[in-house]
This record gives sequence, structure tokens and C-alpha cells, in this order.
Amino acid sequence: MNFNDLLSSRYSCRKFAPTALEKETIDQLLQAGRLAPSACNAQPYFFYAVGPESMARLDECRKWYGAPNMILGCIDTEDYGWQRESDGAVFSSFDIGLAMSQMALKATELNLGSCFIASFDPEQIKRILGLPEYHMPYIALVLGHAQMGPNDNHYLRQSPDKLYSLMP
Ligand SMILES: Cc1cc2nc3c(=O)[nH]c(=O)nc-3n(C[C@H](O)[C@H](O)[C@H](O)COP(=O)(O)O)c2cc1C
Repeated sequence: MNFNDLLSSRYSCRKFAPTALEKETIDQLLQAGRLAPSACNAQPYFFYAVGPESMARLDECRKWYGAPNMILGCIDTEDYGWQRESDGAVFSSFDIGLAMSQMALKATELNLGSCFIASFDPEQIKRILGLPEYHMPYIALVLGHAQMGPNDNHYLRQSPDKLYSLMP
């Protein structure tokens, strides 16, 4: 798949077949995330590959669109990584977004459906999965074989007029 096709093929899938993904597939997704840049190369995150049994336990929190797998991105609350001196800005959420965006695109390349989910209670997930106190669930990427295409929202994109430019 060429890069433009890859970018335009990704969409948020909200209905999945129950078939679990192979470990090799999950490994390829994690590897795509490992290659991402991060501020000062701090990589201030942890990723959990979650399979069907744990997904069933997580149903207590919310519905995950029937996805058999997810990669759960957690922020390290004991070390937020690099901090900009001039204004104190932290970049851990930016860094985790970059890494997981690469995973989502890799999933598209592998012809898998994916959807980011941020709407959950991090403490509830931490408790159910028994995560260490300092691993704060931040963003989930649910994954599996897609059983639906994009919704109307997918096609609502910023108009090119809104892309400000200082060129030349
Ligand atoms: C950080 C983030 C959090 C999101 N959280 C949710 C969510 O909790 N539930 C959901 O159904 N979709 C969620 N989405 C998916 C967005 O709704 C979706 O990306 C957006 O509507 C554009 O559609 P598309 O991904 O199909 O292009 C999230 C996306 C991002 C990037």
C-alpha cells in the first residue's frame, strides 16, 4: 500500500469480528510503535497488549465494539519524560500519540480495523488489569478484523482554507 492510500484507508472501526489476533500480528504493531520518535527519546510510556480474556473483564468499564484485542497505552506518572524549560510543557501525551498513531497505521496496512478510545475511567482499568500504580491508562487502540466501514464523521475534515501558512 502506498503511503497516501494508507493514510486515507485508516478509519475508526466500531464493529469487530470476535477472532483474536495472532501474537505475531500484535508484535508487528508494537514494533511500529517502538520506531516512533519521542521528546529527548524519553519514551515515557508503557504498552499492554490485551487479549480476549482480559477484554472480557474490561467489559465492566464500557463496550469496546466487540474488539478481541487492544493495545493499551499508559503514561508513566513517575516520569513524564522531557519537560520544556521555557514554559514547563510536558510531551508524554504527544509522544504516546505518535507511537500509537504508527500502530494504527500499521494495523491498516495489515488490513485490520482499529479505533482509538479515550472515553474510560483509567483507575477502573488499572484495578481490573492489576497495573502498577504509576502506569496510568491513557489511550486504548482496539483492534481486530473489521465488520463495518467508516461512519459519516470520518469524512468531515478541516477545510484547506483553515491551514494557515506563513510561506514564503
Ligand atoms: C485521542 C482520541 C480519542 C478517541 N476516543 C474515542 C472514543 O472514546 N470512542 C470512540 O468511539 N472513538 C474515539 N476516537 C475516534 C474519533 O472519534 C475519530 O478518530 C474521529 O471521529 C474521526 O473519525 P475517523 O477516525 O474514522 O477518521 C478517538 C480518537 C482519538 C484520536
